[in-house]
Amino acid sequence: MTYFAHARTALKSGLTFLGCKPGDRILVPEYICDALIHPIRHLDIIPVYYPVDDQFNPLWECLSQLVFPKACRAIVMVHYFGQPQDILRFQRFSKKHNLFLIEDNAHGFGGRNFGRLLGTFGDIGIVSPRKLLNTKYGGQLYVSDTLQSTPENLKKKHQNIAYWAVKNLLSSCPTIRKSLFRYFGRIPNFHDATSFKEPEVKDGAADWFSSWIIDRVSNNISLDRIAKKQRQKWVSINYIIKEMGGEPAFAQVSEQSSPWAFPFYTNNEKQREKIINYLFSKGYKVFTWPALPSEILSDGSYKDSADRWHRLLCVSL
Ligand SMILES: Cc1ncc(COP(=O)(O)O)c(C=O)c1O
Repeated sequence: MTYFAHARTALKSGLTFLGCKPGDRILVPEYICDALIHPIRHLDIIPVYYPVDDQFNPLWECLSQLVFPKACRAIVMVHYFGQPQDILRFQRFSKKHNLFLIEDNAHGFGGRNFGRLLGTFGDIGIVSPRKLLNTKYGGQLYVSDTLQSTPENLKKKHQNIAYWAVKNLLSSCPTIRKSLFRYFGRIPNFHDATSFKEPEVKDGAADWFSSWIIDRVSNNISLDRIAKKQRQKWVSINYIIKEMGGEPAFAQVSEQSSPWAFPFYTNNEKQREKIINYLFSKGYKVFTWPALPSEILSDGSYKDSADRWHRLLCVSL
């Protein structure tokens, strides 16, 4: 594993390492965070978007039609909210079409499937431990043994211990969060698909402090403990959301997963507003996910994804 400041930077390094060149195409789910597209654009690689359903499973028949045998180099498999995709099917598909398999486990640091860490099933894999550990920096790049050499690490960033301390305090103490929100908070604009946009970040390695925290928890026992705690939080949020008439995106949390957030659908504007206000008033962090890439929002052929954006909400765990 190599540590970067962000998972998106890890992806950039990984794509270069795989030999992806300007003009190459890679298959990316159309329901995707704009942040993941940043490195792809920086490298002048063309994302070819494939559709997913409401449970984030690919529409496989569409995927097969999208493969351009000449220039398509890779396919990105996203474990949305740390819930594992059908990994074996993705592996078969990429092998059949001679594609690199890029595994995105940005949302599920420490989660497993078949007992093995998510993020280590593809030719390369990215993880974003910073999301779960509340460190400012921390993205990981995994490279499969079959590719042999390792990508270079990048220059270090300044550590930011205060950021970690404040975020941890806030995430472990809803009462403080609630009081702060009452005085300083503002509910973001949940109607605007660009209001949750990710900023462009500079490429860099994780700082000393973030890497130290990630290293400390990266033994099996700590990871499994974190994952268990995340699943427990999932189960309690699941209960609240169902009580309020929301519809969880997943029927259940996957056994060994380590979800960073809980996704659910709302039926209409009124219900959506009611749930948002209730969760904010109780100190939960609610957000829409993801801020979709601009072409997904502007191009009518991705209407289903744009529409899903207006129905889906997430609660930070
Ligand atoms: C699916 C997915 N992959 C990758 C990333 C990028 O992770 P990072 O913010 O660490 O760059 C995100 C960002 O939230 C994401 O949602």
